[in-house]
Amino acid sequence: MCGIAGYVGYRNASDVLIDCLKRLEYRGYDSAGIAVANKKLSIFKATGEIDSLRENMPKMHGSAGIGHTRWATHGKVSKENAHPHISCDKKIAIVHNGIIENFKYLKEQLEGKGHQFNSETDSEVIAHLIEEEYKGNLEDAVASAIKNLRGAYAIVAISIDEPEKIVAVRKESPLVVGAGDGENFVASDIPAFLGYTNRVIHPNDGEICIMEKDSIKFINEKGKELNKEEEVVNWDIEDAEKSGYRHFMLKEIHEQPSTIYNALTGRISEIEPHVELEDLESDMDEITITACGTSFYAGMVGKYIIEKLARIPVSVELSSEYRYFGRKSGTVVAITQSGETADTIGAVKEAKRNGCNTIAITNVTGSSITRITDFSIFTRCGPEIGVAATKTFTAQIAVLFLIALKLGMENFYLRGDELREYVSALRQLPSRLEKVLGKEDEIAGIAKKLKDYDSIFFIGRGVNYPLALEGALKLKEISYIHSEGFAAGELKHGPFALLDEKTAVVAIVAKDAVRDKMLSNIGEIKARNATVIAIADESDEEIDKYADHVIRFPSLPEFVSSIPIAVILQLIAYHVANLRGCPIDKPRNLAKSVTVE
Ligand code: M6R
Repeated sequence: MCGIAGYVGYRNASDVLIDCLKRLEYRGYDSAGIAVANKKLSIFKATGEIDSLRENMPKMHGSAGIGHTRWATHGKVSKENAHPHISCDKKIAIVHNGIIENFKYLKEQLEGKGHQFNSETDSEVIAHLIEEEYKGNLEDAVASAIKNLRGAYAIVAISIDEPEKIVAVRKESPLVVGAGDGENFVASDIPAFLGYTNRVIHPNDGEICIMEKDSIKFINEKGKELNKEEEVVNWDIEDAEKSGYRHFMLKEIHEQPSTIYNALTGRISEIEPHVELEDLESDMDEITITACGTSFYAGMVGKYIIEKLARIPVSVELSSEYRYFGRKSGTVVAITQSGETADTIGAVKEAKRNGCNTIAITNVTGSSITRITDFSIFTRCGPEIGVAATKTFTAQIAVLFLIALKLGMENFYLRGDELREYVSALRQLPSRLEKVLGKEDEIAGIAKKLKDYDSIFFIGRGVNYPLALEGALKLKEISYIHSEGFAAGELKHGPFALLDEKTAVVAIVAKDAVRDKMLSNIGEIKARNATVIAIADESDEEIDKYADHVIRFPSLPEFVSSIPIAVILQLIAYHVANLRGCPIDKPRNLAKSVTVE
């Protein structure tokens, strides 16, 4: 997730853009840059936060420009990979947010025509494509260039030959236009320019926006002019940073259709079913996953998927234990959102000392874990601000899924039709998640029934057992209600003693081999007068007879449904905590990143 901005008006563009980028920093901040059009294109880029750009930037003159704050996905954090990217003739500059899936192909084609590339990014192809198409009119060149792009993008472009104009376009990446008086803005998100104007226009996919200081024009891909309505936004800056959501946690829960899309994009292909995961080696005999908290539960989900699809034995170890007591051999996969968790880093160092091959799954490029593991895979979620991990948990599961598919495919355990079915189901996840998020009111209603319980249990079997553990962790962490996750079959070995009418149980019931066993467990729980909320497959017609309340998730192949189920569990935790008036984004006694042992 990156942030982009564009400005044209009567002020100094670089000052405005720095301001806008600072407000977009929550979208990513490993490097940043600005291009301003005057007599020539002035460009300045720097690694680090926006403040580092501001402090080191020379005075840039010009009243139209574009800016970018980066969260690396393709290519390391470096000045060369920071945006804006420019054409060979140095006349056109672009900033881009999203992922261009066919960039390797386009790059080869453009190199064949003599274009020279200066970065490892997917985005740079856009500048060269626009240069190829440019015949004196930037919007026409952008319209022709995007016809070649596959993937997701929000792009803002500027040309020195038309220095009073900026052109923007989006497809499946956020972009919003701000209409001012004698000045206009475009950015990834409203907070970027809210200090200047609260009049906004939302471009749809494929609509091209042409802005000069006194005009904003929209055309469609065929060049036809469009009428677009302005909307007035009455948010203050703090509300706007949360995009109008009450808490960052809720905003991050709602971002999951796009974070899952980002985690998968460019890594799976449906046409010739295929998984590409950077340079992941496939010769692994045994895997140890090590992590803490929510990342540990993602690892447990991963164990079920990898063992089934790739038939490689996986053990999952808490980093704080593994570090001192774990068996250090084979491949060690460390999962950590922040990349800074002291226990996980300690575990990886021990594994390395013992000669293990080490891989990190993390959300933060350049984090400490990426500097010590042999190889890193990024979850591409953008910064997560709420202390409770949400979007990074589901993206970690998505990445583990890709690892399982890739290993299964390369070790010939996964049949072509099975691979095709999984790839197609993963592709559908963003739209399925939208559907789950559409049930928020229903889930908030159930949260009302749960909010006064002293104790809430979460149960599941198979891959739904770690999800039960995660559901319980999420709830206790933000609502302060005592909650525990159990493998459903274990209740009778002790926890049953706690069940009575003051306990509620959230039961995850998939249509899998153990569904009947889950139904018997629910019967046993009901016999002890506890309330049961079932999270069940939408095609399960019988479940209402067993549970007091049912929340349904979309029918998907085994394991793929873990992601929608996780979103339901997050919404339950969020709404219970919200009804109890808890400080959701900053729960007591907890830190986002635990950098001490
Ligand atoms: O950054 P990490 O993924 O290494 O963090 C691990 C845990 O501290 C983290 O998942 C914690 O459990 C979350 N607050 C859970 O929501």
